[in-house]
Amino acid sequence: MTENHARFTESDPQIETRVDDLLAQMTLAEKIGQMCQVGGAHEGNEELIRQGRVGSFLYVLGEQAREFQRLAVEESRLGIPLILGADVIHGFRTVFPIPLGQAASFDPEIVREGARIGAREAAAFGINWTFGPMVDIARDPRWGRIAESWGEDPYLAACMGVAMVEGFQGADLADPERIAACAKHYVGYGAAEAGRDYNTTWIPERLLRDVYLVPFRACVQEGRVATIMSAFNDLNGVPTSGNAFTLRQILKGEWGFDGFVVSDHSSIVEMIQHGFAADEKEAALKGVTGGVDMEMVTTSYGDHLEALIEEDKLSVELIDEAVRRILRIKFRLGLFENPYFEEDQRAVILCDEHLEAARKAARESCVLLKNDSVLPLDREIGRLVVVGPLADRGKDQLGCWAFAGRGEESHTPLQALREALGEERVVYAPGLEDCRSADDRLIPEAVAAAREADAVVAFLGEDADLSGEARSRASLDLPGAQQQLVDALAETGKPLVVVIMAGRPLILGPVVEKVGALLLAWHPGTMGGPAIADLLLGVESPSGRLPATLPRALGQVPIYYSHKNTGRPPQDDGPSIPPGSFDIAGWTSRYLDVDHRPLFPFGYGLSYTTFAYSDLEVETPKVGAEDTLAVTAVIKNTGDRAGEEVVQLYVRDLVGSVTRPVKELKGFRRLSLEPGQQETVRFEVPVSELGFHGPAMEYIVEPGSFRVWIGPNSADGLESSFEVV
Ligand code: NOJ
Repeated sequence: MTENHARFTESDPQIETRVDDLLAQMTLAEKIGQMCQVGGAHEGNEELIRQGRVGSFLYVLGEQAREFQRLAVEESRLGIPLILGADVIHGFRTVFPIPLGQAASFDPEIVREGARIGAREAAAFGINWTFGPMVDIARDPRWGRIAESWGEDPYLAACMGVAMVEGFQGADLADPERIAACAKHYVGYGAAEAGRDYNTTWIPERLLRDVYLVPFRACVQEGRVATIMSAFNDLNGVPTSGNAFTLRQILKGEWGFDGFVVSDHSSIVEMIQHGFAADEKEAALKGVTGGVDMEMVTTSYGDHLEALIEEDKLSVELIDEAVRRILRIKFRLGLFENPYFEEDQRAVILCDEHLEAARKAARESCVLLKNDSVLPLDREIGRLVVVGPLADRGKDQLGCWAFAGRGEESHTPLQALREALGEERVVYAPGLEDCRSADDRLIPEAVAAAREADAVVAFLGEDADLSGEARSRASLDLPGAQQQLVDALAETGKPLVVVIMAGRPLILGPVVEKVGALLLAWHPGTMGGPAIADLLLGVESPSGRLPATLPRALGQVPIYYSHKNTGRPPQDDGPSIPPGSFDIAGWTSRYLDVDHRPLFPFGYGLSYTTFAYSDLEVETPKVGAEDTLAVTAVIKNTGDRAGEEVVQLYVRDLVGSVTRPVKELKGFRRLSLEPGQQETVRFEVPVSELGFHGPAMEYIVEPGSFRVWIGPNSADGLESSFEVV
């Protein structure tokens, strides 16, 4: 990661001088203008731009972007360019898997490359700033925005978040094919009570610092992210868009973040609804004093900051600080030298290189959850029956937040399977009109087709509108009559494969029971079809791993691997309480009616081959706080096909001055092994990364005993121990 950010990491004295010079020439109105982002192109925008009363636009693209930029550069008094933002969450026109899917690749290179390509395509439309990565920790699959997240784990989210920042920003923000990134939503937004979007969050400071802040800090300090977005949520009683503790004290103070903070869409004025500000004027005051430098879409800054200064309620120093940050990023982006995009940049849209990268990403994102030797399908198969409402839905396979993606540009699984096997060998019977349909009239036709099949593949799950912002669900079951369809197909006795496309972990127990193979493909993006076909037909072996625990029952949520042990940890047995057996249930932390364990643990995923783990060796059985822990294990491909394994390293700090989780991911490595091939994997973990926030909220690494595991997921693996001395 290091050489990548050479040019814009250290503050550049030349840029700082230019910022100061410019600031000195600006009127108060012009300064405030820089702090205002307008949403979309509206009548009257031209005049605002000429007067220097707007610093940024949201969702202004192409020719409109060029014209607005021209007005800012050529017709405003100081010629300060606009920064033009849009959401490039998982690709632009070439859509990559949803971030949760990319997280399942456990391959930061996939994420880095996807962001590079997204930036390249978006920059060709005049966009120079995007609102990603989202690094909210998501431990509740009811929350629809889990789709945009990297899942439940702070270490994985940090690795992927940093990779995405690097992919967007590159080594030089001024590169015309790169754009500024924005780590969001700062902070704790994913902990919404009951998984209901925008809901209240209560996160104790230790959990905030040990878990929720971790990927943000990594994006700031390792990724050098240009901007941060505050969030919608009320955090411990203070909305995050007016939260001086998280924004001023931690982000700008403790971490030394020198880019700027943008609010989320209307989140400044929403502090009125929160009951934190009486009116827009007070909301603006709390936004700026809280540390939000630019207001997205609503106009409380533009409408009230000047009066607040005149009334001495707000100091000009705070305005100057905000504007300095915004100008700094505009200079780093090279917008003063090169404000326009080039027409010929568009040639790269959906080019072969981009499509191939999206296909690889989708392939690596798919998680094989079950396989009773049904997969891979025989490429000589006589008749494959494809079922399911999502087999041929170009738009739905893109998932949420694919605003520039076009359904008609998607390559669907049905198309890909027909291309690979020939039209005549692939029969399609949807079974349901769409995935939310409760109407079972098409099921008999699908069953009849299945009876004639050599194998059946059903594409089920959620349409794109069931996840993403404001798309929380109180049920994690397959929507509509999909389970009925699975049950009916299973009854045919034909080899049955289910491919789930979804924006979140679903309750898949009733599906697992009925099928020969289950592949979780998330929403796989533009090239989802060919990628899935590659896996079903054994061109490649599945290699994705779960970035979020799959629950057995909704009542287990939130469920995540890195929990605390409790004083009465449950035994690994299922529920059993015959009536009248008061004592048999025991007195441990479990459920009466469902196994406490997940259906599939974090990190889990199968391959078409098998891997054996052996010879775990802790090279450093005693380490000091400044040392590096070194642990090795031998991984061997024991099957008869090539495959990729995601080797994972977990630790547990056994006794602490505050209690520690039962396991924490501290490393992972993707290995590619030929049949019979073995490799020694060596993990090096700086002991300084094994710490936590102690009783006085200081970051400490405490001496004592640790366990360490190297394994294929969070529930299995070889185990050893070491001491921090
Ligand atoms: C609201 C969303 O919460 C945020 O993630 C997004 O970047 C902005 N809207 C801009 O579209």
